[in-house]
Amino acid sequence: MPFPKEIDKNSLPEHIAIIMDGNGRWAKKNNRARVFGHKNGVKSVREVTEGAAELGIKYLTLYAFSTENWNRPKAEVTALMQLLVTTIAKETKTLNKNNIRLQAIGDIKHLPKSCNQELEKAIETTSKNTGLTLILALSYSSKWEILNGINQLLNDVKSNKAEFEVVDESIFKSYLCTKDYPDPELLIRTSGEFRISNFLLWQLAYSELYFTEKLWPEFKKEDLIEAIANYQKRERRFGKTSEQL
Ligand code: FPP
Repeated sequence: MPFPKEIDKNSLPEHIAIIMDGNGRWAKKNNRARVFGHKNGVKSVREVTEGAAELGIKYLTLYAFSTENWNRPKAEVTALMQLLVTTIAKETKTLNKNNIRLQAIGDIKHLPKSCNQELEKAIETTSKNTGLTLILALSYSSKWEILNGINQLLNDVKSNKAEFEVVDESIFKSYLCTKDYPDPELLIRTSGEFRISNFLLWQLAYSELYFTEKLWPEFKKEDLIEAIANYQKRERRFGKTSEQL
């Protein structure tokens, strides 16, 4: 696609995070089962990933399955895991073709074995790609991530692997799943909900938040462009005054 005129190439966010919400409501609106909504959600995942790569975004993090989502009806959890396995297997070739590197954050050891294996395989196969990094948050919650990081830090101290007088931001960051990525400048949430839902609480400290009424299966490339255009109109002050910028 030609570079969209609505956005400025020189001030793109480096990292966009998305809470993909509304698959179930979209299915209901279309008189279909919830899983149909998730399947159509995958189409949006494909579109938005392709769009982000084309625009030159460096990192895209998608909230695909939260720690709390394990509490959904068993049939829906199974269907979502199955969808993940088939999607990852099917899309690896396209990821390579588009120079996209796949990564995952979350308690991925607790995913079903088939899912974990497919994920590890795709992460390995795409590891040398240098374009967009697509990060799937799976079995992820921010409170889990923070506590997991603190416990790892304690273990390192106890086993003399590390010694700290004080823990500063950069040390703490090095214990988070997102240690290798910059914080997102832009968070998008679909479906008209105004919540963060236990997602990247530390990393979103200074992110610009963008909410849209669109349900996730309706969210397409042009919506991503609109969100970026909206972000580019904001004044990011980081606690300073306008005059200081
Ligand atoms: C939220 O909609 C969506 C999810 C919990 C899952 C998102 C998963 C996908 C889009 C498919 C798999 C993803 C990848 C990366 C292959 P909801 O079910 O909470 O919708 P509702 O709030 O309307 O019920």
